[in-house]
Amino acid sequence: MKKPLHIAITGATGQLGYNTIFRMAAGEAFGLNQPIIFHLCDLPGLESRLEGIAMELEDCCTPLVAGIEYGSDLIKLFHDVDYAVLIGAKPRGPGMERAELLAGNGHIFTVQGKALNRCAKRDAKVLVVGNPCNTNCLVAMHHAPDLNRKNFHALLRLDQNRATALLAKKSKMAVRDIQGVTIWGNHSATQVPDFNHCSVKGQKMTDFIRDEAWLRGEFFEVVQKRGASVINRLGHSSAASAGQAIVDALFALYHPTAKGQWFSSGVCSDHNPYGIEDNLIFGFPCQSQGEGQCEIIPGLEWDFFIKEKMTVTLQELIAERDFCIKEGLIKT
Ligand SMILES: NC(=O)c1ccc[n+]([C@@H]2O[C@H](COP(=O)([O-])OP(=O)(O)OC[C@H]3O[C@@H](n4cnc5c(N)ncnc54)[C@H](O)[C@@H]3O)[C@@H](O)[C@H]2O)c1
Repeated sequence: MKKPLHIAITGATGQLGYNTIFRMAAGEAFGLNQPIIFHLCDLPGLESRLEGIAMELEDCCTPLVAGIEYGSDLIKLFHDVDYAVLIGAKPRGPGMERAELLAGNGHIFTVQGKALNRCAKRDAKVLVVGNPCNTNCLVAMHHAPDLNRKNFHALLRLDQNRATALLAKKSKMAVRDIQGVTIWGNHSATQVPDFNHCSVKGQKMTDFIRDEAWLRGEFFEVVQKRGASVINRLGHSSAASAGQAIVDALFALYHPTAKGQWFSSGVCSDHNPYGIEDNLIFGFPCQSQGEGQCEIIPGLEWDFFIKEKMTVTLQELIAERDFCIKEGLIKT
């Protein structure tokens, strides 16, 4: 058994927390030889619910759980953490403008970034889930200047999984046969699910799906709007698939990526090989060397269609960042 990893999870009592914590405890994110000490965080007043989750974790009797701490004091709970999974966020209420959500959550991620800067391990990896996750991640990163900017991620894995599942269904192949889906840009309806570099069982995707109109039309639209479609039917946002995506994203970060493959993550755009301007959290194809050491994969070409879509998602992220600057949440 390895030395335990300290993992902080905010919003631990929410539906995503509940769909993620037990899967981590079962080894699905960090592997079956990696013990975990959980640092479960949520708002003051939710201690009893946190205690209930801690009791359930104990009752699962999983050998990987090496300790459980919980509470609402971030300075205590972020102390020496190796990974912080930031789920806790103000939910988008009915009729709420995106700007209102950004402003509310900007403050939450300011506090969380400052707490990470004060007491997390200097090489801590941070995965931001709470929406709008790209810009929340930017705010947290901005307030944690002593941590490595390369170690901040926004969760785009759910979009990658959605796109992969859709391509598998259309090509009548298994999801494991589909490789190379890239989600560029924002985790929002402007995201760019790029099918151009996908392969099926090592062959070009377009040999299996010849319907270009579907790829550029329905495929794009379904992936971009999948979150809203689930909410409309279920009455609340995706929790099981989002929990799976968190576990997949952590697995991808922690384990070395197989040669020639990649995964999508929202990472800092500083000095990226695609000419996207610096100081944004932007979805890129990434590869891990293991234990969270992650790099952007260079060299994927964009055709005219993808280039056009890229401008839209980039402009949205710039506008979100400019709003945060205007609100004093981050400085230029
Ligand atoms: N990036 C993605 O792919 C993705 C997918 C699904 C959900 N999400 C986002 O994840 C977040 C959580 O989703 P959920 O389904 O668990 O929601 P939920 O409402 O079930 O839980 C929200 C959690 O956040 C906590 N919280 C609320 N206000 C807070 C504050 N001011 N400070 C700190 N914590 C606070 C709550 O106590 C609760 O634990 C939402 O922002 C949601 O939009 C992201």
